[in-house]
Amino acid sequence: MGLNFIATFQDADYTRRYLEKGKCFVLSDGKKLIGTVFYYTKMWDDAPEIFKDKDTVLFGKFAVLPELQGLGLGSRLLDFIEAHARENGKSRIVLDTSEKADHLIDYYEKRGYKYVHHWQWPEVNYRSVVMSKELT
Ligand SMILES: CC(C)(COP(=O)(O)OP(=O)(O)OC[C@H]1O[C@@H](n2cnc3c(N)ncnc32)[C@H](O)[C@@H]1OP(=O)(O)O)[C@@H](O)C(=O)NCCC(=O)NCCS
Repeated sequence: MGLNFIATFQDADYTRRYLEKGKCFVLSDGKKLIGTVFYYTKMWDDAPEIFKDKDTVLFGKFAVLPELQGLGLGSRLLDFIEAHARENGKSRIVLDTSEKADHLIDYYEKRGYKYVHHWQWPEVNYRSVVMSKELT
């Protein structure tokens, strides 16, 4: 789609440094990594205000190996990260994605995420939408 999501090209050093910002959970088949999701525990100052709310947590770096997509693994990762947020006392979980990624926005809406506002990160070639879900 021509969207330069940082996760599609970040190198190992970037990933290593990124681990200071939170916890990276991975899904494995015992031999290789087949999925990831990142739970942020530190937030940077110029992030959207909702990301900084103490009752809110951001997830990102969400992906499943292309040949294993569409099998429900992504939904299992989201079930896991939402449960982890609840266990850590969070009442809301948020994400951002490209406003052009209709298929992702549909997917998140089906899971109960709602549009909050648009956002422009300086590093990327698309405008984002921030979406949130109340955790009950
Ligand atoms: C987004 C992503 C992590 C979802 O993981 P997944 O394992 O494919 O998701 P699921 O199997 O749980 O499927 C989610 C829904 O999308 C549909 N879907 C997923 N991949 C599909 C595909 N390749 N073709 C058709 N439908 C697909 C599923 O049918 C399902 O719909 P349903 O809930 O109505 O049945 C995965 O598709 C991915 O890695 N995409 C590339 C990276 C990306 O865009 N990450 C998100 C950045 S914000």
